[in-house]
Amino acid sequence: MDIQITLRVDGVQAPLSVDTRTTLLDAMRDRLRNTSPKKGCDHGQCGACTVLLDGRRVNSCLVLAVTADGAEVTTSDGLAAGGQPHALHRSFVEYDAYQCGYCTPGQICSAAGVLAEAAQGWPSTVTEDLTAGTADLTDAEIRERMAGNLCRCAAYAHIVPAVAAVAGAQGVRR
Ligand code: FES
Ligand code: FES
Repeated sequence: MDIQITLRVDGVQAPLSVDTRTTLLDAMRDRLRNTSPKKGCDHGQCGACTVLLDGRRVNSCLVLAVTADGAEVTTSDGLAAGGQPHALHRSFVEYDAYQCGYCTPGQICSAAGVLAEAAQGWPSTVTEDLTAGTADLTDAEIRERMAGNLCRCAAYAHIVPAVAAVAGAQGVRR
């Protein structure tokens, strides 16, 4: 069954008629031709498809497009405001935090989500003081919070410092 929805991806609004079984990832890539989010596993296991949905990171292969009707979807490309790279884009380049780059848009969206979660004081499973109400993005915190984003090239040793540098600049790493 098809349903009429409106997807808003990276600030571009698009009316779409989609089968109710269509994932947000497939709607973006196959219908809107937005190939920033990547399909790695299509099963919520790799994080390559990570986007921000109303500011919260999600695996877009696990989200039905119809549930994103009217929501604000941001991909890694969309983080580049006014054509200028986001601080995370710059940091990933500076720290050489990729090899093939296939996982990178998902890594960057996830990192943007991590920074926002830390700014709001959200704890993770490695946070020592759950009552502190603040988050310090140590390397262990970054590794834990980014654990859903796999890198087949194993660029983790560079991804962590790339995220840490931006966290430090944003005051969520001491
Ligand atoms: S493609 Fe969505 S988690 Fe792998
Ligand atoms: S850079 Fe190749 S999968 Fe991460």
